[in-house]
Amino acid sequence: MARLVRHEAQGPYKVEASDKDQYVCACGLSQNKPFCDGSHKATLDEDEASLYRYAGDVRDGARRVVEA
Ligand code: FES
Repeated sequence: MARLVRHEAQGPYKVEASDKDQYVCACGLSQNKPFCDGSHKATLDEDEASLYRYAGDVRDGARRVVEA
């Protein structure tokens, strides 16, 4: 079974807590879900008109354009 999930966020959701704020991944790329690990930085130069596919650890640059 496989599933494609579309994410458009380029940063985390901030969850305010009384002791320490938490950042929840909204880009779908974190290797430490549900928390943001900074992997969303790989999306910051994405073109809005393109569709990207990421594979493995995004920090190794494994990204390609699927549709432009
Ligand atoms: S929002 Fe996904 S890694 Fe930061």
